[in-house]
Amino acid sequence: MAISSTQLEVIDLTPRIGSEIRTDLDTLLSGREADNIRATLEQRGVIFFRGLQISDEQQVAIAKTLGNIVQNEGEGGIYKISFDKNVNQRAEYLKGSMFWHFDGSLQPYPNLASLLRAVKLSETGGQTEFCNTYTAYDDLPGDEREAIGDLRVVHSVERSQYYVTPEMSYQEITFWQKSPTKTCPLVWTHQSGRKSLLLGATADYVIGMAVEESRALLARLRDWATQPQYVYRHEWQIGDLLIWSNTGTMHRVLPYSADSGRLMHRTVLAGEEPLH
Ligand SMILES: [Fe+2]
Repeated sequence: MAISSTQLEVIDLTPRIGSEIRTDLDTLLSGREADNIRATLEQRGVIFFRGLQISDEQQVAIAKTLGNIVQNEGEGGIYKISFDKNVNQRAEYLKGSMFWHFDGSLQPYPNLASLLRAVKLSETGGQTEFCNTYTAYDDLPGDEREAIGDLRVVHSVERSQYYVTPEMSYQEITFWQKSPTKTCPLVWTHQSGRKSLLLGATADYVIGMAVEESRALLARLRDWATQPQYVYRHEWQIGDLLIWSNTGTMHRVLPYSADSGRLMHRTVLAGEEPLH
Protein backbone atom coordinates (compact mmCIF):
# COMPACT_ATOMS: atom_id res chain seq x y z
CA MET A 1 0.00 0.00 0.00
CA ALA A 2 1.55 3.25 -1.08
CA ILE A 3 1.18 6.53 0.73
CA SER A 4 0.71 9.21 -1.84
CA SER A 5 1.52 12.82 -1.45
CA THR A 6 2.20 15.57 -3.91
CA GLN A 7 5.94 15.37 -3.38
CA LEU A 8 6.55 11.64 -2.99
CA GLU A 9 5.94 8.94 -5.54
CA VAL A 10 6.08 5.53 -3.87
CA ILE A 11 6.69 2.51 -6.08
CA ASP A 12 6.26 -0.83 -4.31
CA LEU A 13 8.78 -3.40 -5.54
CA THR A 14 7.23 -6.56 -4.08
CA PRO A 15 3.84 -7.05 -2.37
CA ARG A 16 5.26 -7.34 1.17
CA ILE A 17 8.54 -5.42 1.33
CA GLY A 18 10.59 -2.74 -0.40
CA SER A 19 9.63 0.52 -2.12
CA GLU A 20 11.42 3.08 -4.20
CA ILE A 21 10.49 6.66 -3.33
CA ARG A 22 10.87 9.22 -6.08
CA THR A 23 11.26 12.77 -4.92
CA ASP A 24 13.83 15.56 -5.05
CA LEU A 25 16.66 16.42 -2.72
CA ASP A 26 15.11 19.70 -1.54
CA THR A 27 12.02 17.85 -0.36
CA LEU A 28 14.15 15.33 1.56
CA LEU A 29 16.31 18.01 3.16
CA SER A 30 13.33 20.17 4.14
CA GLY A 31 11.77 17.45 6.29
CA ARG A 32 8.35 18.34 4.84
CA GLU A 33 7.61 14.72 4.04
CA ALA A 34 9.41 13.18 7.02
CA ASP A 35 6.20 11.82 8.58
CA ASN A 36 5.16 10.21 5.30
CA ILE A 37 8.62 8.74 4.78
CA ARG A 38 8.66 7.26 8.29
CA ALA A 39 5.20 5.79 7.82
CA THR A 40 6.21 4.28 4.49
CA LEU A 41 9.37 2.88 6.07
CA GLU A 42 7.38 1.22 8.82
CA GLN A 43 4.90 -0.28 6.35
CA ARG A 44 7.36 -1.36 3.71
CA GLY A 45 10.46 -2.28 5.80
CA VAL A 46 12.88 -0.89 3.20
CA ILE A 47 12.79 2.26 1.09
CA PHE A 48 15.34 3.85 -1.20
CA PHE A 49 16.02 6.99 -3.20
CA ARG A 50 17.94 6.82 -6.48
CA GLY A 51 19.79 9.37 -8.59
CA LEU A 52 19.84 12.26 -6.12
CA GLN A 53 23.62 12.98 -5.80
CA ILE A 54 23.54 13.06 -1.99
CA SER A 55 26.66 14.18 -0.06
CA ASP A 56 27.70 12.91 3.39
CA GLU A 57 26.46 16.12 5.00
CA GLN A 58 23.14 15.89 3.20
CA GLN A 59 22.76 12.24 4.22
CA VAL A 60 23.16 13.22 7.88
CA ALA A 61 20.78 16.17 7.43
CA ILE A 62 18.14 13.89 5.90
CA ALA A 63 18.60 11.40 8.75
CA LYS A 64 18.01 14.19 11.27
CA THR A 65 14.62 14.96 9.73
CA LEU A 66 13.60 11.34 10.45
CA GLY A 67 14.86 10.80 13.99
CA ASN A 68 17.79 11.14 16.37
CA ILE A 69 21.07 10.04 14.88
CA VAL A 70 23.54 7.91 16.85
CA GLN A 71 26.46 10.31 17.18
CA ASN A 72 29.15 7.90 18.32
CA GLU A 73 28.99 6.00 15.02
CA GLY A 74 31.84 7.05 12.73
CA GLU A 75 32.79 10.67 12.09
CA GLY A 76 30.16 13.33 11.70
CA GLY A 77 27.40 10.73 11.72
CA ILE A 78 28.94 8.73 8.84
CA TYR A 79 30.26 5.21 9.50
CA LYS A 80 32.22 3.52 6.72
CA ILE A 81 31.20 -0.04 5.92
CA SER A 82 33.98 -1.95 4.19
CA PHE A 83 35.59 -5.39 4.42
CA ASP A 84 38.95 -3.65 3.84
CA LYS A 85 40.89 -3.44 7.14
CA ASN A 86 42.55 -0.20 5.98
CA VAL A 87 39.14 1.47 5.79
CA ASN A 88 37.45 -0.17 8.76
CA GLN A 89 39.42 -1.81 11.54
CA ARG A 90 36.40 -3.93 12.43
CA ALA A 91 36.26 -5.39 8.91
CA GLU A 92 36.56 -8.94 10.24
CA TYR A 93 33.64 -8.43 12.63
CA LEU A 94 31.56 -6.96 9.77
CA LYS A 95 31.74 -10.32 7.99
CA GLY A 96 28.97 -11.37 10.36
CA SER A 97 26.74 -9.13 8.24
CA MET A 98 26.61 -11.89 5.60
CA PHE A 99 24.21 -13.80 7.84
CA TRP A 100 20.59 -12.86 8.62
CA HIS A 101 20.46 -10.49 11.56
CA PHE A 102 19.18 -7.18 12.78
CA ASP A 103 21.42 -4.58 14.38
CA GLY A 104 21.60 -4.04 18.11
CA SER A 105 19.78 -7.15 19.31
CA LEU A 106 21.84 -6.89 22.50
CA GLN A 107 21.04 -3.24 23.15
CA PRO A 108 18.17 -2.05 25.35
CA TYR A 109 16.90 0.11 22.47
CA PRO A 110 17.78 -1.50 19.11
CA ASN A 111 18.36 1.04 16.34
CA LEU A 112 15.23 2.39 14.74
CA ALA A 113 16.67 2.44 11.25
CA SER A 114 19.83 2.75 9.22
CA LEU A 115 20.55 4.84 6.15
CA LEU A 116 23.06 3.31 3.75
CA ARG A 117 24.50 5.10 0.72
CA ALA A 118 26.47 3.33 -1.98
CA VAL A 119 29.81 5.10 -2.51
CA LYS A 120 31.68 2.32 -4.33
CA LEU A 121 30.39 -1.07 -5.42
CA SER A 122 31.85 -4.49 -6.01
CA GLU A 123 31.62 -5.78 -9.56
CA THR A 124 30.18 -9.03 -8.21
CA GLY A 125 28.07 -9.73 -5.13
CA GLY A 126 27.42 -7.16 -2.42
CA GLN A 127 23.65 -6.97 -2.89
CA THR A 128 21.79 -6.48 0.38
CA GLU A 129 18.76 -8.60 1.24
CA PHE A 130 16.00 -7.71 3.68
CA CYS A 131 13.08 -9.75 4.99
CA ASN A 132 9.91 -8.41 6.54
CA THR A 133 9.57 -9.92 10.03
CA TYR A 134 6.10 -8.38 10.55
CA THR A 135 4.47 -10.04 7.57
CA ALA A 136 6.37 -13.28 8.21
CA TYR A 137 4.82 -13.34 11.69
CA ASP A 138 1.35 -12.38 10.43
CA ASP A 139 1.36 -15.25 7.91
CA LEU A 140 2.19 -17.96 10.47
CA PRO A 141 -0.69 -20.34 11.17
CA GLY A 142 -2.68 -19.29 14.24
CA ASP A 143 -1.71 -22.32 16.34
CA GLU A 144 1.96 -21.65 15.65
CA ARG A 145 1.62 -17.98 16.61
CA GLU A 146 0.05 -19.15 19.85
CA ALA A 147 2.73 -21.80 20.50
CA ILE A 148 5.63 -19.35 20.21
CA GLY A 149 3.90 -16.29 21.67
CA ASP A 150 5.49 -16.44 25.11
CA LEU A 151 8.90 -17.92 24.26
CA ARG A 152 12.07 -16.09 25.16
CA VAL A 153 15.42 -16.38 23.41
CA VAL A 154 18.93 -15.77 24.69
CA HIS A 155 21.01 -13.70 22.25
CA SER A 156 24.80 -13.54 22.32
CA VAL A 157 27.61 -12.05 20.25
CA GLU A 158 29.45 -15.34 20.70
CA ARG A 159 26.70 -17.22 18.86
CA SER A 160 26.88 -14.85 15.88
CA GLN A 161 30.65 -15.30 15.63
CA TYR A 162 30.33 -19.04 14.95
CA TYR A 163 28.88 -18.08 11.57
CA VAL A 164 32.08 -16.18 10.74
CA THR A 165 34.57 -18.55 12.39
CA PRO A 166 33.04 -22.01 12.85
CA GLU A 167 36.10 -23.43 14.62
CA MET A 168 36.83 -20.63 17.07
CA SER A 169 39.79 -21.07 19.39
CA TYR A 170 39.40 -21.06 23.14
CA GLN A 171 40.80 -17.51 23.19
CA GLU A 172 38.27 -16.36 20.59
CA ILE A 173 35.34 -17.98 22.38
CA THR A 174 36.27 -16.55 25.76
CA PHE A 175 36.84 -13.13 24.19
CA TRP A 176 33.31 -13.01 22.72
CA GLN A 177 31.83 -14.47 25.91
CA LYS A 178 32.91 -11.29 27.72
CA SER A 179 30.05 -9.51 25.94
CA PRO A 180 26.93 -9.94 28.06
CA THR A 181 24.06 -11.99 26.68
CA LYS A 182 20.51 -10.66 26.47
CA THR A 183 17.12 -12.34 26.69
CA CYS A 184 14.51 -11.16 24.18
CA PRO A 185 11.00 -12.28 23.30
CA LEU A 186 10.73 -14.48 20.18
CA VAL A 187 7.72 -12.40 19.18
CA TRP A 188 8.21 -8.68 19.56
CA THR A 189 5.01 -6.79 20.38
CA HIS A 190 5.72 -3.24 19.28
CA GLN A 191 4.32 -0.06 20.76
CA SER A 192 2.10 0.17 17.67
CA GLY A 193 0.53 -3.17 18.65
CA ARG A 194 1.99 -4.92 15.61
CA LYS A 195 4.05 -8.06 16.19
CA SER A 196 7.21 -9.27 14.48
CA LEU A 197 9.51 -12.28 14.70
CA LEU A 198 12.76 -11.60 16.52
CA LEU A 199 15.47 -13.90 15.18
CA GLY A 200 18.93 -13.41 13.70
CA ALA A 201 22.50 -14.60 14.03
CA THR A 202 22.76 -13.66 17.71
CA ALA A 203 19.75 -15.86 18.63
CA ASP A 204 21.35 -18.67 20.64
CA TYR A 205 18.68 -20.76 22.34
CA VAL A 206 15.09 -20.75 23.56
CA ILE A 207 14.79 -20.72 27.33
CA GLY A 208 13.31 -23.91 28.79
CA MET A 209 13.58 -25.91 25.57
CA ALA A 210 15.85 -28.88 24.81
CA VAL A 211 18.91 -27.82 22.81
CA GLU A 212 18.00 -29.76 19.65
CA GLU A 213 14.39 -28.57 19.70
CA SER A 214 15.50 -24.99 20.31
CA ARG A 215 17.99 -24.96 17.41
CA ALA A 216 15.47 -26.59 15.09
CA LEU A 217 12.75 -24.06 15.98
CA LEU A 218 15.03 -21.04 15.46
CA ALA A 219 16.21 -22.41 12.10
CA ARG A 220 12.68 -23.28 10.99
CA LEU A 221 11.39 -19.78 11.80
CA ARG A 222 14.37 -18.18 10.06
CA ASP A 223 13.71 -20.32 6.98
CA TRP A 224 10.07 -19.23 7.15
CA ALA A 225 10.83 -15.53 7.52
CA THR A 226 13.38 -15.54 4.69
CA GLN A 227 11.16 -17.19 2.07
CA PRO A 228 11.15 -15.27 -1.23
CA GLN A 229 7.77 -13.62 -0.60
CA TYR A 230 9.16 -11.81 2.48
CA VAL A 231 12.49 -10.84 0.93
CA TYR A 232 13.59 -7.83 -1.07
CA ARG A 233 17.07 -7.96 -2.63
CA HIS A 234 18.57 -4.56 -3.38
CA GLU A 235 20.71 -4.36 -6.50
CA TRP A 236 22.78 -1.31 -5.69
CA GLN A 237 23.58 1.59 -7.96
CA ILE A 238 26.18 4.17 -6.98
CA GLY A 239 24.52 6.97 -5.01
CA ASP A 240 21.49 4.97 -3.87
CA LEU A 241 20.34 6.04 -0.42
CA LEU A 242 18.51 3.13 1.19
CA ILE A 243 16.79 3.12 4.59
CA TRP A 244 15.74 0.00 6.42
CA SER A 245 13.51 -0.36 9.42
CA ASN A 246 15.77 -2.21 11.83
CA THR A 247 12.96 -3.22 14.15
CA GLY A 248 10.78 -4.81 11.47
CA THR A 249 13.27 -6.54 9.19
CA MET A 250 16.37 -8.71 9.18
CA HIS A 251 19.11 -8.13 6.64
CA ARG A 252 22.26 -9.65 5.21
CA VAL A 253 24.79 -8.74 2.54
CA LEU A 254 25.63 -11.22 -0.19
CA PRO A 255 29.33 -12.16 -0.27
CA TYR A 256 31.78 -9.94 -2.10
CA SER A 257 35.54 -9.69 -2.26
CA ALA A 258 37.31 -7.67 0.45
CA ASP A 259 39.59 -6.13 -2.19
CA SER A 260 36.67 -4.98 -4.37
CA GLY A 261 36.75 -1.57 -2.71
CA ARG A 262 33.02 -1.77 -1.94
CA LEU A 263 32.22 1.14 0.37
CA MET A 264 28.97 2.15 2.01
CA HIS A 265 28.36 5.21 4.19
CA ARG A 266 25.97 4.48 7.03
CA THR A 267 24.03 6.77 9.35
CA VAL A 268 22.07 5.20 12.20
CA LEU A 269 18.83 6.41 13.78
CA ALA A 270 18.61 5.72 17.50
CA GLY A 271 16.10 3.21 18.82
CA GLU A 272 12.80 4.55 20.12
CA GLU A 273 11.26 1.45 21.62
CA PRO A 274 12.73 -0.77 24.33
CA LEU A 275 13.36 -4.45 23.81
CA HIS A 276 13.32 -6.52 26.97
FE1 LIG B 1 23.66 -5.16 10.03
